[in-house]
Amino acid sequence: MQTLEEQYKEFEKKNDLAELGGGLDKIAKQHKAGRKTARERIAMLLDPNTFVEMDKMVTHRCHDFGMSKNKVLGDGMVTGYGKIDGRLIFVFAQDFTVFGGTMSRANADKVMKVMDTAMKVGAPVIGLNDSGGARIQEGVESLAGYADIFYRNVMASGVIPQISAILGPCAGGAVYSPAMTDFIFMVKDTSYMFVTGPEVIKTVTHEEVTMDELGGAMTHNSKSGVAHFAAENDEHALMMIRELMSFLPSNNMEDPPTKPCTDDIMRMDEKLQTVVPADPNKPYDMKDLITTVIDNHNFFEVAPHYAMNILTGFARMGGKPVGIVANQPAYLAGVLDINSSIKAARFVRFCDCFNIPLITFVDVPGFLPGTNQEFGGIIKHGAKLLYAFSEATVPKITLITRKAYGGAYDVMSSKHIGADVNFVYPTGEIAVMGPEGAVNIIHKGRLEEKERTDAVDDYRKTFASPYKAAELGYVDEIIYPKETRLKLIQALELTQNKRKTNPPKKHGNIPL
Ligand code: HXC
Repeated sequence: MQTLEEQYKEFEKKNDLAELGGGLDKIAKQHKAGRKTARERIAMLLDPNTFVEMDKMVTHRCHDFGMSKNKVLGDGMVTGYGKIDGRLIFVFAQDFTVFGGTMSRANADKVMKVMDTAMKVGAPVIGLNDSGGARIQEGVESLAGYADIFYRNVMASGVIPQISAILGPCAGGAVYSPAMTDFIFMVKDTSYMFVTGPEVIKTVTHEEVTMDELGGAMTHNSKSGVAHFAAENDEHALMMIRELMSFLPSNNMEDPPTKPCTDDIMRMDEKLQTVVPADPNKPYDMKDLITTVIDNHNFFEVAPHYAMNILTGFARMGGKPVGIVANQPAYLAGVLDINSSIKAARFVRFCDCFNIPLITFVDVPGFLPGTNQEFGGIIKHGAKLLYAFSEATVPKITLITRKAYGGAYDVMSSKHIGADVNFVYPTGEIAVMGPEGAVNIIHKGRLEEKERTDAVDDYRKTFASPYKAAELGYVDEIIYPKETRLKLIQALELTQNKRKTNPPKKHGNIPL
């Protein structure tokens, strides 16, 4: 019989072994590659000393390929719960030092337990991914593990926030669970996402592409739109996740967490009086306007590198989190196209899932014309944004700063699709299209140059202004730019107890 001391010693030894993962050599290799270990990452992500590990002693149950002799406690996945800013968070982290962080039946069960418990108690799940995908030695058992997780991702979608950090090479199945979570963080130069890697691509399509070109952080942040944030290193990514969590409720039944407001609610911003240029064709940076009016100028931008003609992100107004969607006149004149419609639609739906009020800043010349856009399906993709704004039942506040032309006027959270409070600056232009285009169509080549200029001026005075829409009550108030902060905060207060539900249905059919 073992003495008590021997039993404790055995426990200590097993604990140490589990914490060593794949061993010192593999840990050194991980560090040399500029990456942290699973446990180091969890320690950085969570408040100090709050991590409680689950299933530390789990091992795989595979007997093929000599695997029975090759077992590591924890099986390459560290799971458990802890706190961020004092709030409960569940976490799983793939340990690349053990079988390349690959998915086994046993470690999939660990992730499922974390997700099921998080759903039961209503807390977010953060996945720290660093994995070679399905563990080849386990065959279909590994695929089953993935599918069990995918299913839970879908069931948890819109119930608890799900966040993914990609912190190493993630291949095959390792990318699909992140793809179904709400936000994806990647790290420049050390993280990759692809369904099939460069070697397979070379064999099948004869294309030559590097890992970074194919699935690096900037590829997915600026080209594919798969990822939403690009960090400099592991620590930076984890700190960004902590900041993101500060804007989000723990589940869909909660309101987002408020912070004491240290910024003057009554603040008048004189500099905004000239933010919109007198020349309607001159660009300006909408981010200047946003950062001027929000609390402490702190804008947590989502997907800053993708479809830069639209801005999305979180901020606080009077201490309360808001989601911001804004056309960006400084990039492609703020036009709506396929990518910007998809980017904004997904963001709007996220905010609506988690009770985050939406503020929409509008300066949009319309939808981007061209065969590329039409063949690419701008009709169905633009409809996504229209659908997302229409179905959102959170408070919706809209401010038109300058142009709101054509279908884009309707789409960008107009009164007609359920916005609660609609403001416009005196510089607003709300019409079917811009003056030049309108005169060209109405008078089609029948005017001399002077007559044409007069007709354009006439149209601008009559239609390209806020007054027609104000006469009809389609905007509630014309405001001075300097009072934007106060007006938006008043509108948020007005709508804070808004109760609106859409007709009961199984689910809508958003044009995918
Ligand atoms: C088992 C794997 C593995 C895998 C890597 N390893 N991938 N073991 N199954 N899928 C092991 C390696 O053998 C090695 O073990 C350790 O992990 C580290 O891998 P390295 O290759 O040494 O590391 P590195 O050079 O950094 O390259 C990492 C990598 C590469 C890019 C991820 O290993 C790779 O391409 N792996 C295969 C990726 C892949 O094709 N996965 C798809 C699986 S199919 P030792 O013992 O030497 O340390 C799939 C389908 C699921 O996922 C579909 C669900 C929808």
